[in-house]
Amino acid sequence: MPDAPTPAGLLDRLHALLGPRGLLTDPADIAPHLSDWRALYQGRALAVARPADTAEVAAVVRLAQETGTPITVQGGNTSMVGGAVPDESGRHLVLSLARLNRIRDCDPVDMTMTAEAGVVLKTAQNAAQEAGCLFPLSLGAEGTATIGGVLSTNAGGNTTVRYGNARELMLGLEVVLPDGQIWNGLRRLRKDNTGYALRHLFVGAEGTLGIVTAAVLRMFPRPRDTALALCAVADEEAALGLFRRFRDRDDSAVRAFEYMSGSGVDFCVKHIEGIAQPLSDRAAHYVLVDLASPRPDAGLRDMAEAVLAEAMEEGIVLDAVLAESEAQAQKLWRIREEHPEAQKREGASVKNDVSVPVSKVPEMIRRCSAALVELIPGSRPVPFGHIGDGNIHMNLEQPPGMDPAVFLARSHDIMDCVNAIVRDLDGSFSAEHGIGRLKTDMMEEWRGGAELDAMKRIKAALDPAGLMNPGKVLP
Ligand code: MLT
Ligand code: ZN
Repeated sequence: MPDAPTPAGLLDRLHALLGPRGLLTDPADIAPHLSDWRALYQGRALAVARPADTAEVAAVVRLAQETGTPITVQGGNTSMVGGAVPDESGRHLVLSLARLNRIRDCDPVDMTMTAEAGVVLKTAQNAAQEAGCLFPLSLGAEGTATIGGVLSTNAGGNTTVRYGNARELMLGLEVVLPDGQIWNGLRRLRKDNTGYALRHLFVGAEGTLGIVTAAVLRMFPRPRDTALALCAVADEEAALGLFRRFRDRDDSAVRAFEYMSGSGVDFCVKHIEGIAQPLSDRAAHYVLVDLASPRPDAGLRDMAEAVLAEAMEEGIVLDAVLAESEAQAQKLWRIREEHPEAQKREGASVKNDVSVPVSKVPEMIRRCSAALVELIPGSRPVPFGHIGDGNIHMNLEQPPGMDPAVFLARSHDIMDCVNAIVRDLDGSFSAEHGIGRLKTDMMEEWRGGAELDAMKRIKAALDPAGLMNPGKVLP
C-alpha cells in the first residue's frame, strides 16, 4: 500500500507540541504499537504521539480535529480483539497514554485512588497495598494493561465474582472529549445523582467517545486471611455445586472461582516450565477456589477444609490440594494464568470470550464442545475461565498437525457456532474482552435495532467527524 499523505505540517506541529520524547516517527520505534498481542492485525500509522499530561492529550486531539486525522488510542496494547491497533490505511495517529503514569492520590479514608490512564494495573494494585488497602481488579495481563485500557474496555478478570467489573470499581473520570475539551469528572463520591451518569458512557466505549485520561478508583480493605484450593471436580455441574457450597458458607469470602478443563491444564503442563500435573491423577475438570477476608480470624482454611470434605463425601470433589503457603498459592494460580500462553504454544487457537447465566454454564460448555468437534473433527475445545460470574473462554485449539492457516480460516465459522448456542442460552458474544475490531460485524446481529441505533446517535453527537478510534466497536 502506498504511504498515505500526512496532513500538511501535522508532524512538525506535533513535534513542537510534544517535544522529541513525545513523538515517535522512526519505523522501528512505532512498530510495537502497530500489532496486537494475538498477532491478528498489522496496522500502519503516521506516528505515535506520547503526550505527558492531560493538557497535551487535549492539544493533540484538537490538532487531530483540525486536520481530520483519525486517532487510535492505546494503553498497554493487550487487547484480545484488536481494540488498540490502527488499521492498515496509514492515516491514523496512534495516541499512547503511557506517559500519563502518575498516581495522583491514594486515600485510605475515602478508600479511593486517583490514577492516570497510563498507570499499569499492577502498579495500581501495589499502590493500594502500600496504602494498606486493596485494588481488586486482577487479570493475566495486569503487568502490562493500564488503567485507561481496563476502564475503556470495562475489563473483568478473575475477581468479578466478588468485586464486579472495572465499571463497578470506578467512581469518577477525567476525559478528553473528541472536540478537545477536558471534562473533569474526578469526583470521589458514593452518592452523586446529578443527571446522566456520563462517566459510565466512557467505560466500555473503547475510546470511541473520548479519551479517558484519569480515574477515581474504589479501594477495599486488604485481605488479612486467605485460602486457596485447587480441586478436581466430577463435571461442570459439580463445579457449580461447589461454588454454591462456598457461597452459602461465606459469600463475601469468595474472591475468585475459576474453571479449567483437563485439556487446558494438560497444555500448561506440556508447554510451561515449572508447571506439573497439580494432583495425583489427571482430571477432566478443575476449579480454583480463592478465598479472602479482611478479618484476620476468618478461619478460611478451616472453612475450606470443611467444605471440601463434605463435597468429597458427596462425590462432587474428587481430589483437592489446599495451598500451604503464599508461594504455593501463586504456583497454583499460575496454572490458570498461563492458559492463554500454553494454548498459543500448542498451535493456532480461536478465542470465544462468552458469558451465559451462571446456571447455564454446564450446558453451554457441553453443547459448544460437541458442536465444535463436529464442525472441525480433531479440534480440541479448551473451556476455562471465570465460571463464578458465567464468563467462560470457550476456546478451540486446532487439530494436531493441521496447517494453522487452514484452521484460522475457519475462525468465523467457529465463533458463529459458539455464538448460536450462547444466544440460545441468553448469553453474550463478548463478556470481558470487548468488541475492538474483531467483533464489530457481530454488533448488528446481537445489538441491532433500538440499542445499536442509540449507540450510533451517541457516537455521532460526541464525535461527529468520527475520528476517535474509527473501526472499533461500531460496525
Ligand atoms: C483469561 O482470562 O485468561 C483471558 O481473558 C482469556 C483468554 O486469553 O482467552
Ligand atoms: Zn478472562
